[in-house]
This record gives sequence, structure tokens and C-alpha cells, in this order.
Amino acid sequence: MKTINIAIDGPGGAGKSSISRTVARELGFIHADTGALYRAIGLYAIRSNCLENGAVAQEIDNIHVELKFIGGVQRVLLNGEDVTDYIRSPEVSMAASKVSAVPEVRALLLDLQKKIAAENNVIMDGRDIGAVVLPDADLKIYLTASAQERASRRYLELREKPDCPSYEQILADIEARDYADMHREIAPLQQAKDAVLLDTTNMGFNEVVEHITGMIQKIMN
Ligand code: DC
Repeated sequence: MKTINIAIDGPGGAGKSSISRTVARELGFIHADTGALYRAIGLYAIRSNCLENGAVAQEIDNIHVELKFIGGVQRVLLNGEDVTDYIRSPEVSMAASKVSAVPEVRALLLDLQKKIAAENNVIMDGRDIGAVVLPDADLKIYLTASAQERASRRYLELREKPDCPSYEQILADIEARDYADMHREIAPLQQAKDAVLLDTTNMGFNEVVEHITGMIQKIMN
């Protein structure tokens, strides 16, 4: 049976994951947040002290990552350990960005992502899904918002937590990660030629969800 594949790419903090999760739930698709895979490998690299200068490439045969979907909700496993709750810190974000520039890491994850899409109706979000992982996706969306807007959304999310970074720190991290993701040599963040651009700077969450759900329903009919 042919599965339906939706690719959602865009910079960090654009709301890709929370929007994809909500739309997927409404349509009965699974949601694959591919950033979690890079984050799990970033965590491995921190723990194993092989984060710098692409050293993680030498460890590639010791890394096994996996996505599991429990009631449609994604968990990420690193060598059998569920690390879903340990991969959201700023330190792991930066580590994920570093390991994502290593060709061996991208090759390892490419097959895994393609397999998930071949077996499931999926909304897959990431950086290179439309351009590299699923070039034949049924619909490609490039979801973005200004760096200032993304930083203020993240600040509002984090401000109740202890050790919340300042708005300025969050903005600086977002800009640094945008730069790294867009300028790496292999599979840089880019809008696929046939992707629909959706700038959510001035859109509310529900408005974006409805808009994307509508686009997917149109192609399903
Ligand atoms: O979406 P995220 O913030 O969880 O992604 C973490 C890092 O992983 C991000 O800096 C870039 C990288 N990434 C990637 O290179 N390709 C993807 N498909 C998804 C994420």
C-alpha cells in the first residue's frame, strides 16, 4: 500500500514539531520528529566525549538509534535506552547541530527515516526532509518565522523553568544554530524547490494547524 508522506522543514523553533504532532493526531498519521534522532546522537557524543571535529564518525558502529511510536507518540531510543526526556537541553541542541554536519551520521539516519516513511502515513519534520530524505513526498512545507519571533516563543515556553536562559541568550543560540544548519556542507537547511513556504511570524498556533490540515486533506481527497 502506498503511504502518504508529508515533509515539513524549517529552522529551529519555528514550531515544526508541535504543529506536526497536532496535525498528525487529527489525521491519524504518525509524527516523526527527526531532530530527536540527531539529538540522541548528540547526547551520545557528549557522553562519549566525541563531539568535536567529527570524532563521532569513528563511533558510528556503536550507535543504534530508533524511533518508537506509542499511541502515535514518539519515543527515541539510544542503544536501547529511552532518552526522550534528556534531549531538549540547550547543550544537547548545540551537540545535535554539530553531529548533524557529520556525513556518517546523516547516512546512518537517512535509511532509518526512509523506512519509517515507507511503512507509515507520516508527517516528518526536520531540515532536509523535502530536499533529501523524501524527495517524492506528497506535500512539502517550509515552515519558518523570524528569529525574534522564534526566540520569544521559546522564551515564553521556558520562562517558568529554573535556569531559564535570557531572551537575548535564546535569540543568540537560535541565530547560531540557523547559521550552522544553513551553512554546513552536507544537506544544509534549505527550502526544497517544490515546497510551500509558510511564514508563521504573524500566525497563531491553531491557524497554522488548520491551514496545514486543510492542505493535507485536499491531497487526500
Ligand atoms: O529540530 P531540532 O531542533 O530538534 O533539530 C536538532 C538539530 O538536528 C538541528 O540543529 C539540525 C539537526 N537536524 C538535521 O540536520 N536534519 C534533520 N532532518 C533534523 C534535524
